[in-house]
Amino acid sequence: ESPTPPHALLSPPDQTAVAVIGAGAMGAGIAQVAAQAGHPVILVDAQPEAAERAVAGLRATFDKLVAKGKVTREDADATLARVTPHTTADMRTIPAVALVIEAVVEHLDVKRAIFRQLESAQPSTTVLATNTSSLSIDDIVGEACSGHDAALHGGTSPAMAHPERVLGLHFFNPPPLMRLVEVITGAASGADVLDAASELVRRWGKTPVRCTSTPGFIVNRVARPFYGEAQRMVAEGLADPATIDLALRGAGFRMGPFELTDLIGQDVNLAVGESVWRQTGEDPRYAPTDWQRELVREGRLGRKTGRGVFEYADGRPVDAE
Ligand code: NAI
Repeated sequence: ESPTPPHALLSPPDQTAVAVIGAGAMGAGIAQVAAQAGHPVILVDAQPEAAERAVAGLRATFDKLVAKGKVTREDADATLARVTPHTTADMRTIPAVALVIEAVVEHLDVKRAIFRQLESAQPSTTVLATNTSSLSIDDIVGEACSGHDAALHGGTSPAMAHPERVLGLHFFNPPPLMRLVEVITGAASGADVLDAASELVRRWGKTPVRCTSTPGFIVNRVARPFYGEAQRMVAEGLADPATIDLALRGAGFRMGPFELTDLIGQDVNLAVGESVWRQTGEDPRYAPTDWQRELVREGRLGRKTGRGVFEYADGRPVDAE
């Protein structure tokens, strides 16, 4: 009997093109990780200039790494040359690749539409991954037929024809530094696809952890009450955010709940929180707070807007006093 050939995802990186969709905080970082591992990367965004801006951001990052002596100029230039920005809202215009990693806004209908366009245009062997923080892989690939969905979308939308090649690859912020990648198994995800994707991220220097497609997977499920409880303490006047962060950091957490949600983005964190809360039948343990909604309404999104729970200048926290 002949040994099973390795999955196409595990071919030499220079022959294994990757498309990253969404050139925001996560997409840009994931593109960097893939390009540093030697893959040609197409970085796609629907907003004009967003992909170009992300590539300019990567150039600035590499300039700093070169200045610090962590990367040679030659390697930095070679890595940057592998990343091609591409502006489109139509995923059918993306050339054929081995792997797509989707990292657009945390909205089910947007992700569903993207995956259907990808499926109709990419070869049947292309692995399609989502960087969703909380949405169910089965909801992304399956048929949308609930009354609410049908009303919202003006009808039902079909299930994907090949859900076996769809999985979650949930990176953490910032992707080049954080080692964890949750590998999310949908009900229909193929074992060969999950194994190959896990091996691929291991080759990228990451630690893959398998999770089932349940609300929030592992990290976001455990972290929701952590953020929520801290906010309730502030609302009850028991401690202020800086004190709570100081205490949690002192207890061994890398970051406190407030500085961490400012890093994640208060808008992203609220969307993830609402998604987990809704999917758990509005379990109060995961309920977003009014305060969180207020931050988002006021545009206090965290580091990326210069102000969230705390104030930032040039992306760095400004000391309160
Ligand atoms: P972001 O808001 O920084 O970036 C999203 C990007 O997607 C924007 O540039 C936007 O123009 C683009 N986009 C939106 N709709 C699009 C469409 N239909 N087609 C193409 N591009 C589109 O968001 P961020 O923080 O990068 O998050 C992206 C995804 O990653 C979300 O699903 C989020 O839940 C997940 N995630 C976020 C983490 C975080 O700490 N921010 C951590 C892990 C996962």
